Amino acid sequence: MDYKMLVSKAFEGRKNAYVPYSNFKVGAAVVTEDGTIYTGCNIENASYGATNCAERTAIFKAMSEGHREIKAIAIVGVENDYTYPCGICRQVIAEFASEDVKIILGKNENEFIVKSLEEILPGAFTKKDLEK
Ligand code: THU
Repeated sequence: MDYKMLVSKAFEGRKNAYVPYSNFKVGAAVVTEDGTIYTGCNIENASYGATNCAERTAIFKAMSEGHREIKAIAIVGVENDYTYPCGICRQVIAEFASEDVKIILGKNENEFIVKSLEEILPGAFTKKDLEK
């Protein structure tokens, strides 16, 4: 998988961030099971709680087009540092994560780190728990 290209796509998504309240732009790019890529950005709201994070925008775009699995997600936020996904987004990533999903945190176009879901959401509650 081309992580650098995916970070670049996340930066593309970030350009469309609607952030009149926080001025904190975030971008994301997901790769689905068949390799299709969807980008996303955060979309804020005057009723702050109605804000949608970049990660969920990208994932929901993919799911609403019929995909059900993500193989990777790249996330870029604050300039020149790593931005980790919020708790709600970690849970949404877990819902659609492939066995070995890669979470790529981009610092800039050339620097990124790759995390596993277990690293950022240990002991996740998932659909498997509902089967018990
Ligand atoms: N934000 C994201 O888009 N993703 C995250 O995982 C962290 C937070 C957005 C939400 C809000 O628009 C802004 O960053 C500040 O919280």
